Amino acid sequence: MLHRRSTAESYEKIATVIFDHSTKAAVALAKEVRDLIETKNKAGQPAVLGLATGSSPVPFYRELIRLHKEEKLSFKNVITFNLDEYYGLDTDHPESYRRFMNDQLFDHIDIPKKSIHIPDGKVPGDQIFDHCRDYEAAIDAAGGIDFQILGIGRTGHIGFNEPGSSRESLTRRITLDRITRQDAAADFRGEENVPRFAITMGVGTILRAKKLVLIAWGENKAGVVAKAVEGPVSEAVSASFLQDHPDARFFIDSGASHELTRRKLPWLIGPVKWTPQETRRAVCWLSSSVNEPVLKLTDEEYNEHGLSDLLSEHGPSYELNIRIFNQLQHTISGWPGGKPDADDTFRPERAKPYPKRALIFTPEPQDAVVSIGATIDRLVEQGHEVRVVSMTSGNLRVPDSGVNKFASILLEIASTIAEGWSEQTDYARHILQLLAEKGEFGEDPPLLRQLKGLILRGELRDAAQGLGLAQENIQFLDLPFYESGRYRRFRTSDEDTSTIAKVFHEFKPHQIYATGDAADPSSVSALCFRLIEQTLAQCQKEDWAAACSLWIYRGKEKALATHEIDMAVPLSPNQLERKERALTRYHSLTSLERESPKLNQQTAQQYDSLGLAHYEAIESFQRWRRT
Ligand code: F6R
Repeated sequence: MLHRRSTAESYEKIATVIFDHSTKAAVALAKEVRDLIETKNKAGQPAVLGLATGSSPVPFYRELIRLHKEEKLSFKNVITFNLDEYYGLDTDHPESYRRFMNDQLFDHIDIPKKSIHIPDGKVPGDQIFDHCRDYEAAIDAAGGIDFQILGIGRTGHIGFNEPGSSRESLTRRITLDRITRQDAAADFRGEENVPRFAITMGVGTILRAKKLVLIAWGENKAGVVAKAVEGPVSEAVSASFLQDHPDARFFIDSGASHELTRRKLPWLIGPVKWTPQETRRAVCWLSSSVNEPVLKLTDEEYNEHGLSDLLSEHGPSYELNIRIFNQLQHTISGWPGGKPDADDTFRPERAKPYPKRALIFTPEPQDAVVSIGATIDRLVEQGHEVRVVSMTSGNLRVPDSGVNKFASILLEIASTIAEGWSEQTDYARHILQLLAEKGEFGEDPPLLRQLKGLILRGELRDAAQGLGLAQENIQFLDLPFYESGRYRRFRTSDEDTSTIAKVFHEFKPHQIYATGDAADPSSVSALCFRLIEQTLAQCQKEDWAAACSLWIYRGKEKALATHEIDMAVPLSPNQLERKERALTRYHSLTSLERESPKLNQQTAQQYDSLGLAHYEAIESFQRWRRT
């Protein structure tokens, strides 16, 4: 039986501050760092910072740069130690952590070069031990780390301390976990190119810091954040060792807080306002906790699981169960565009107008097919005017081999079939030359990025054809923010919103499908979603916008939880197979993306366990609620 406790802290074993947006957290963190630097300055001592790389610290570094440029914060008296570096990468490799730190911070502030310390990813194998020992010694010689900034990987790693790292571990070379390599796949244009090893500070090294803050954004981190903050201290989740540190805190955004007890099961902590969403969440949770379908939940089970309040407000269980069951039942619809000529009182989408203009945004060319391929298929089949809009070209994820193959085929055609193709031959040779010049890891010049984008266009057209969608219904925006940036470091501008606005004005959709609301804020999908939101806000007075519904779908890492679903589109085995076949048309899918149909199957199993019909798979959507 679960007993109600009085405060969130009784579950959270690390002080956790939830910010409504990552930028606010970044500003608060930068302010603490600034205070530390100034206090140390006054005492005539250097401030020693431990720094992290990856997406999470990007807004924090932007704020530090702003403090330096606009508020004259000096870093002359700062010494830094980075947590880790990929092993085997040259320092000027675009994905090396040294390069990242230079681009994101060091090149924009006045820190002396000699004060920067980052493990050397190219140290020869027989010198790794000495190099790591020297790194530890350098930290001690600097007086130890005053303030350590950490991110958290989906494996629970801090630094690159993958599961199994001991509390006492020191700086060393480690093998990267499969999940960590999957998460880095896009940066390296394919999982196979992600380094297998890294040099990282150990858990013991990190715990020696005097003060630590771990930052995490987005729902994809919510599960691991909850494990670290509320779970047992365990080598399986390195970040859980922070529970034993006297001055460690988590700064997280709302998305990353979703799995904490105070957010997920607030009724275990204190009084709850029983909104319809909260009620549905509680009933779904109870059903899965006791492993009983909704209609079989009893008063005793509600009471024994901290839900007596809910019963007294909305009970008895018999009536509450039926109400929630019906709500869940009404989310199921094989008619994502609305069922023409049917009573739509309890259907997720309105019947009229029919047919509808459905606008499907895909942040990169593969996202929509991966996540909602079968719904696209349905919409087309049911006679709606469907337009798939690929927001970015996605060219950064295409491996060089794709370009090589294309240029080689072009050369072969020119030499065997197409006489007089001299321009094409020159083009292909030029491409091959650019590939050779930039080497395996060099940055792609614009011509290569352009060709890689075209290759992905071909893949999307091909996949969409498998779903019955004609070529002319696919539009490519190649949003400027993506074309001039790199993963984790993009910056959007008005040019991006005006490109999206043109699509709205021209197409005037009745329905929009979009993703990215809960993703890490610096990811392509989150940036794309924010652009859609901004553009919609600009258009809100227009007639089409007032009547337009916006359906959120989730990407590959995490499906919507059953209580979050407003529309569940069931798939038969054949429909799932069609989607799987469409996915095989993409060559540069990550393993997570390839496995996305499994998420659809899991959602179907969850509906089944709640006592609803058992389908082969379900694609799920949440209605967008303006905040
Ligand atoms: C990076 C590091 C890692 C990352 C973690 C989260 O120096 O030590 O632990 O902090 O993998 O990465 P992002 O922020 O990219 O999600």
